[in-house]
Amino acid sequence: MTTTPSTQAIAATALRKAYGDKIVLDGIDISVPQGTIFSLLGPNGAGKTTAVKILSTLISADAGSGDIHIGGHDLATDPQAVRAAIGVTGQFSAVDGLITGEENMLLMADLHHLSKEEGKRAAAELLERFDLTEAAQKPAATYSGGMKRRLDIAMTLVGNPRIIFLDEPTTGLDPRSRHNMWGIIRELVSDGVTVFLTTQYLEEADELADRIAVLNDGKIVAEGTADELKRLIPGGHVRLRFSDPAAYQSAGYALREATRDDESLTLQIPSDGSQRELRSILDWLDSAGVDADELTVHTPDLDDVFFALTSGTSKPNQTKETVR
Ligand SMILES: Nc1ncnc2c1ncn2[C@@H]1O[C@H](COP(=O)(O)OP(=O)(O)OP(=O)(O)O)[C@@H](O)[C@H]1O
Ligand SMILES: [Mg+2]
Repeated sequence: MTTTPSTQAIAATALRKAYGDKIVLDGIDISVPQGTIFSLLGPNGAGKTTAVKILSTLISADAGSGDIHIGGHDLATDPQAVRAAIGVTGQFSAVDGLITGEENMLLMADLHHLSKEEGKRAAAELLERFDLTEAAQKPAATYSGGMKRRLDIAMTLVGNPRIIFLDEPTTGLDPRSRHNMWGIIRELVSDGVTVFLTTQYLEEADELADRIAVLNDGKIVAEGTADELKRLIPGGHVRLRFSDPAAYQSAGYALREATRDDESLTLQIPSDGSQRELRSILDWLDSAGVDADELTVHTPDLDDVFFALTSGTSKPNQTKETVR
């Protein structure tokens, strides 16, 4: 890609990090356009948190790494400017349980050198936005996991950062809290904020991310939109369902590569789901004068991609009928 660092909120090349002789990041490139969500996926220990820590100035990359620009600032020469531009929600909560939600917020406001009034205003606004106003005067230790996570993110947003790093923001949240968090993240991005997100939940990357990179063995083994990644691995197919047995028979006879299910009168044709392949199937149906009652496209989900790309493992307990 030939985009310049200035149009990218996050741009890093040849990022390297080793602990002893364990290579965690083996020269990875990351670039995230402004106002988009980028998701870094990878199994436990892949180096996601390490990448977040480097990009957010908490630890340094190894010698031999390329340049890192965050919000247009060179991380090596101007880490202060980088820190001023970003917010970081770590994998493990930064919430102090002994003090109240509001006090946690005011502490952040202090760190950002906001005046007392500004700090109070920012805290009140964010607590309201994250539905924590009622709990604001209670010690954070009494909050539920979801409330703590919301407070964590609210704290990250003090100072109105334009780039935020969220390291597994929804781990441990119940489905409703997770959906709420997704809403919050989407809202941030609609305000032009850039989000760098790590997650264990493939569904989350699928829901939120404009681009996804899969980290494994120190390298980015695949990168693209969720749909692009899904097309990388086999398992996609087009399914044609018929109600007329004669149409089913003639279609089945002509489409030799199709898998037949005589009971439900469906044919399953391996396909990447691309426009070109769909058109050729539709053209064929038209020219043969065969009417299918239903045509559905099935692409593999991100779980399939993840298991195919990381450590050569296969998906446990495969229950889906994407097998040809
Ligand atoms: N300070 C450290 N000293 C030594 N090894 C470290 C240190 N920090 C991380 N590691 C190692 O680096 C590797 C990557 O760790 P990291 O925390 O970045 O993984 P992760 O992808 O965030 O994993 P998880 O999904 O479990 O959060 C692991 O093998 C970890 O043990
Ligand atoms: Mg981690």
